[in-house]
Amino acid sequence: MAKAEIITNIEAPIHLTSLFINLKSLNTIINVTSGLSFVPLTKVPVYSATKAFFHSFTLSTRNLLKDKNIEVIEMIPPALNTDLGGKGLHDTSPPVSEFIEAVFNQMKEGKTELTFGFSQNLANASSEDLKNTFNRMNQV
Ligand SMILES: NC(=O)c1ccc[n+]([C@@H]2O[C@H](COP(=O)([O-])OP(=O)(O)OC[C@H]3O[C@@H](n4cnc5c(N)ncnc54)[C@H](OP(=O)(O)O)[C@@H]3O)[C@@H](O)[C@H]2O)c1
Repeated sequence: MAKAEIITNIEAPIHLTSLFINLKSLNTIINVTSGLSFVPLTKVPVYSATKAFFHSFTLSTRNLLKDKNIEVIEMIPPALNTDLGGKGLHDTSPPVSEFIEAVFNQMKEGKTELTFGFSQNLANASSEDLKNTFNRMNQV
């Protein structure tokens, strides 16, 4: 399970990025991270760590590809109503359609960090806020 998550969420994006940056027509990369990139949910430690990795990798690639005029966008979903992790786990989360509408509007405004609801709070939180959120999210 951990190995599969690392392959899908870390090794595959590195591999795909290394292939895509050789395309002459490439002008945009969109990476999907998570609110958990900023605060780990301790019941999914490997998943959370892979998303923290991907956030960091996205910051670096954005900076490295700037001179080539390749834009690197980070899509940062909060919990949304999909079957991620198993059926029923996210049934009470907002629908994907609301997230999509919000992030398309942000793209039109030229934003490169696309957030929604709780992920907006996390992506802009102070270190103190992040510590408090960590404690709230991970109460046993
Ligand atoms: N839903 C949330 O609450 C939430 C929150 C934050 C971030 N995200 C992120 O949003 C992205 C999409 O998640 P989701 O909620 O839409 O999850 P999902 O409903 O479980 O969909 C995951 C998608 O990834 C594909 N996939 C999984 N493993 C793969 C592999 N090894 N090779 C190729 N494709 C693979 C699946 O393909 P198949 O359908 O063919 O299996 C499916 O299309 C993920 O990066 C997730 O981490 C989701």
